[in-house]
Amino acid sequence: MSIGIPVGSGLDSRFFVDSHEWEQAPLLRGTTRYEPLSSVRNIMITGGEGFIGSWVVRHLVLTYPEAYNIVSFDKLDYCSSLNNTRMLDGKGNFKFVHGDVTSPEDVMRCLRTYNIDTVIHFAAQSHVDLSFGNSYAFTRNNVYGTHVLLESAKEVGIGRFIHVSTDEVYGEVDDDAEDLLEHSLLAPTNPYAASKAAAEMMVTAYSKSFQLPAILVRSNNVYGPHQYPEKVIPKFINLLMRNQKLTVHGNGKHSRRYLWAGDAADAFDTVLHKGVVGHVYNVSSQDEVTNLELCAKLLNQFGISDTKGRIEYTNDRPFNDYRYAVNGSKLQALGWKQQLSFEEGLRRTVEWYRDFPEWWGDISSVLTAFPEVEGQAMVSTNQAKHTGALIEALRETNGNAGKQADVGAERVKQMANGETTAKKRKLDETEE
Ligand SMILES: NC(=O)c1ccc[n+]([C@@H]2O[C@H](COP(=O)([O-])OP(=O)(O)OC[C@H]3O[C@@H](n4cnc5c(N)ncnc54)[C@H](O)[C@@H]3O)[C@@H](O)[C@H]2O)c1
Repeated sequence: MSIGIPVGSGLDSRFFVDSHEWEQAPLLRGTTRYEPLSSVRNIMITGGEGFIGSWVVRHLVLTYPEAYNIVSFDKLDYCSSLNNTRMLDGKGNFKFVHGDVTSPEDVMRCLRTYNIDTVIHFAAQSHVDLSFGNSYAFTRNNVYGTHVLLESAKEVGIGRFIHVSTDEVYGEVDDDAEDLLEHSLLAPTNPYAASKAAAEMMVTAYSKSFQLPAILVRSNNVYGPHQYPEKVIPKFINLLMRNQKLTVHGNGKHSRRYLWAGDAADAFDTVLHKGVVGHVYNVSSQDEVTNLELCAKLLNQFGISDTKGRIEYTNDRPFNDYRYAVNGSKLQALGWKQQLSFEEGLRRTVEWYRDFPEWWGDISSVLTAFPEVEGQAMVSTNQAKHTGALIEALRETNGNAGKQADVGAERVKQMANGETTAKKRKLDETEE
């Protein structure tokens, strides 16, 4: 199999920024290797030119050259780059297919042409900030796209369907709450997370109604090289590379857990080889930091000690989950474990973006607090402010608006009673 943009294919050259940086780039992948499965031969990876998808594509192509053929199926949206897999050009077990998961024709053609037996479904609109202003695109790509893929997979009698979801489907989790297990309530709070939860419902429905052999994976935030700089870590690195201030949403006290992309690739490798059909697996990182702590770590990487002078506080998102916290012990029991510390991963990530500054072409428009992408307006600053004020007012009068997720009935009862949470207290603290 081969990769390449055929002359006259109509592919936009911006997805193929030809800076030749990719020729110098290290071949980044995960570390695990399992005994290949005899039931798996041809794997279709949707969203394979995006961030995590491309890590998994590179990992599987390079780790299982004799065992598996990998087809990266991607519509090449603004956040993707063929540079992410271009180093695989010429590998006999790799193929790129330009296609859209919302098109039954594209999907069926790919499934049939390459005799696909396994699907790993990453393709999605993945940027929460965009989902506030452009939510129909999230429903279309994430929910309807998944539906098309499921229906097509059912038609060809797919052997395994690994659906990539997110920890965001659980909604926010209080400081003092237990980490959420896989059977916890789904309570998404933004259109992105809601579309991912809705997609999960379709997957579960196809598993039950048609015995589609599906596995669901819900991961913490993933970071590392190859991520489009709309997401916080590469965006902040790129701002610092341009000597610009870090734009922090709200008071910066929201926290996230971050997992190195190589560890995420290992997690999907583990799920592919050891995961049990019908099950859900959380992928959890040990590294949780607030946005302000993240700023301090990155400023430190750039040798900047003046933390305060380098941060600009902006309006918050219309709703910004305080934190996510999933329990990943079920996947760990299959043998997966986080390998890389956040400190080391961050160091490698900063180094990569500094080494390959032209990877994405012109990214100036995505480095603002609420960027615009190709005229698809993000939530405007005013809209964010207005909606943010409404949410705060709701929190004040109700004391309950931010409370969304829990492992069981006790927590739901608390929600009904509107009990004050540690999270709310913390959010209400005045800024230093
Ligand atoms: N990045 C994270 O921290 C994170 C965490 C948990 C879960 N996830 C999930 O992992 C998956 C991948 O995330 P990512 O960060 O790599 O995203 P990304 O935005 O970097 O990549 C998404 C890819 O999907 C492609 N795509 C989008 N719509 C498509 C369509 N209709 N047809 C074909 N291709 C399409 C894009 O072109 C892009 O290459 C998503 O499903 C996301 O919800 C991401």
